[in-house]
Amino acid sequence: VSGAVPAQDLAGRRVVVSAGGTREPLDPVRFLGNRSSGKQGIAIAEAARARGAAVTLVAANLEVAEPAGCDIRRVSTAMELREAVADAAAGADVVVMAAAVADYRPASVSEAKLKKEPGDGGLTLELVRNPDILAELGHAPHDGTLLVGFAAETEPDGARLLELGRAKRAAKGADLLVVNRVGWNEGFAGDDNAVVVIDRHGEVVASAEGSKLSVAHAMLDVIVAQLADAPD
Ligand code: CTP
Ligand code: CA
Repeated sequence: VSGAVPAQDLAGRRVVVSAGGTREPLDPVRFLGNRSSGKQGIAIAEAARARGAAVTLVAANLEVAEPAGCDIRRVSTAMELREAVADAAAGADVVVMAAAVADYRPASVSEAKLKKEPGDGGLTLELVRNPDILAELGHAPHDGTLLVGFAAETEPDGARLLELGRAKRAAKGADLLVVNRVGWNEGFAGDDNAVVVIDRHGEVVASAEGSKLSVAHAMLDVIVAQLADAPD
């Protein structure tokens, strides 16, 4: 893909990508967040666009520039991302959940900035679960929409990493799951990534390592093949 126009093998397809990391407010000046930069999701959106797709990017607090040529829906919290993804997913050919969605949000959001009390010794936060957006899509009828999830895992053992990915794919009802090892210095802010892609049968159908753009194209190769296999 160096400079050349890639094959237009996603022409006429509508692709939805969520990217970035959600932020869950505690008060007007603080939030709970995560270290997702949005780079891998943006690379998928860019690569799909370059291959001819109409792309909707649901963007949660991106730390890098937005890609050109995509319909961008900016969100911040998991609840906002859920609504934007559900809206965009209707009638889409592909939904890729690359966003790091907060599993929990503060049970209440203070209208005023939280203040320390003299001698309080600490603060305990009460968190409640956010809905699992990918599982909601995966457990609802989604004929004609290929659902792609990610699994961010810190498991160092390759075989166990795959097992975690297989279990996560099944639990969420995703058609494909991209397993991605993350750590203090892996996966997030960097320009490179290493992933394996698991299908519905738990088979590894691709593994890719390199720039986030090249990894995106390898994922889209699998997606294009699956779209060709499925009836329209
Ligand atoms: N995801 C989602 N909604 C959530 C949490 C996660 O849609 N509330 C999606 C992510 O976008 C990703 C996939 O589910 O595509 C897996 O996310 P991950 O954090 O790896 O898995 P979890 O199911 O949240 O499990 P855990 O964090 O406990 O490992
Ligand atoms: Ca999670």
